[in-house]
Amino acid sequence: MTIKIAPSILSADFANLERDIRAVAEGGADYLHVDVMDGLFVPNITIGQPVVRSIRAVTNLPLDVHLMIDRPLRYVEDFCEAGADLVTVHVEADTEENTARCLERIHGKGKRAGVVLKPKTPAEAALPFLEQCDMVLVMTVEPGFGGQKFMADMMPKLRTLRQWIDQRRPECELEVDGGIGPDTCRTAIANGANVLVAGSAVYMADDIPGRIRALRG
Ligand code: DX5
Ligand code: ZN
Repeated sequence: MTIKIAPSILSADFANLERDIRAVAEGGADYLHVDVMDGLFVPNITIGQPVVRSIRAVTNLPLDVHLMIDRPLRYVEDFCEAGADLVTVHVEADTEENTARCLERIHGKGKRAGVVLKPKTPAEAALPFLEQCDMVLVMTVEPGFGGQKFMADMMPKLRTLRQWIDQRRPECELEVDGGIGPDTCRTAIANGANVLVAGSAVYMADDIPGRIRALRG
């Protein structure tokens, strides 16, 4: 399986965002992972659609926008219009009905859509949406902050989702986010992930292209 790397700009220097995006684009990144936090769904606040729009203007990398916001239905279309290529919403952020509506609206804008599961959320929570998903994202840390420790106990959940995706929707990508580094990347890949988000592991590296290569396992 081809492994894709999605550097997270959460660990970039926001005062030099264009420079730091270019560094990962030139370093071979496949996606740019954009963490949107509202201070409500998670205890941190990051960036919103104006910044996504500005990022869109300076890079051709596909933008993988991870919405850590309460009731994302209010904003999914805005993020699509701002230039996201793929938008993921947390299943914990609203009712099942509204999460399905989010995916419909993202697709209605011609963009790819997916659901995200927090560590305590079981694999089954993704099932009602699988047919609609272009991506399922398994959190391997509690969302909110970069630089946390990889939760290896998420691997059974990842394997279960890989199985279901292979059986029911093979075009769906399976992404992991949190604590991915040169060692943990192998664990995630061995358990079925094909897209790896990495924030601190990429941006703390002296050799960014070398680190991105290493993360492919
Ligand atoms: C955490 C974010 C992650 C974060 C990962 O809530 O969703 O994307 O940037 O950071 P690292 O790779 O440092 O664990
Ligand atoms: Zn993320």
